[in-house]
Amino acid sequence: MKIYIDGKYESEKTAKVSVFDHGLLYGDGIFEGIRAYNGRVFKLKEHIDRLFYSAKAILLTLPLSHQELMHVTAETCRVNNIRDGYIRLVVTRGVGTLGLNPNKCKKPSVIVIADKIQLYPPEYYEKGLTIITVPTTRNLHSALNPAIKSLNYLNNILAKIEANNGGCEEAIMLNAEGYVAECTGDNIFLVRGDQLVTPPLSAGALYGITRAAIMEMAYEVGLKVSEPNLTRYDVFNADECFVTGTGAELVPVVKVDGRVIGSGSPGPKTHELMERYKKLVNSTGYEIFPDRKKSK
Ligand SMILES: Cc1ncc(COP(=O)(O)O)c(C=O)c1O
Repeated sequence: MKIYIDGKYESEKTAKVSVFDHGLLYGDGIFEGIRAYNGRVFKLKEHIDRLFYSAKAILLTLPLSHQELMHVTAETCRVNNIRDGYIRLVVTRGVGTLGLNPNKCKKPSVIVIADKIQLYPPEYYEKGLTIITVPTTRNLHSALNPAIKSLNYLNNILAKIEANNGGCEEAIMLNAEGYVAECTGDNIFLVRGDQLVTPPLSAGALYGITRAAIMEMAYEVGLKVSEPNLTRYDVFNADECFVTGTGAELVPVVKVDGRVIGSGSPGPKTHELMERYKKLVNSTGYEIFPDRKKSK
């Protein structure tokens, strides 16, 4: 595998960051998790947009332009001959001193890893997930805004450990007020009659790229979208529930904190959205091999 790091391609063995990189010392940096399907990078522009928003929020000046970042992301796939895979784009604050001061860091480092994807087992999609609510609350937006996709993921990792300790793959995180925020690495949706609801971003959720895609296609399956504050009561009494993320896509949820959701099986609207999402990811995106296509 060839990894892009600051303008060069390195092998897995030689691709390294300094122990003085503030990405390592303090989690000072940002990232994106992106998918490639069928020779195209899905929603690449939206991912790079979000990277720029995260960078702005943490006062990090990206060393590459929007266009250059799109280009190196697709190029890393091309160099590794990835048509279907998972891409991790990381920008660290760069090498600094042992002190916190990010102004002492000379230059941010840009890393792109394009790998094969580890998919969830098919039974998660066929039977649905059982999840729990965990005690670790989502970061306060006034402290470390969950909209920033930062390298500091301890909040999510603690919740993930609690999920795993409870025998679950995913978990609901509440915010400090007790409203549903999101899951450890996914956004959450509920279907109630002809309504599709998901927590507002102010509740402490990431601006999920999958979340946005689902909200856009909801009307096609006869659902009206809104973003009210949601409590666990709303989750327990939903007709259907599912989580969304770049890696997971849409995964039905059939049990939460011991309460069966709806019929106890993945619901019809969830199924329809899963099908439509599959079509979308396989038919749109930024071409990885534009020349190959032309020569055909
Ligand atoms: C905390 C969190 N919420 C939600 C998501 C889903 O976002 P997206 O659909 O952009 O992958 C992710 C994954 O990136 C995440 O880490």
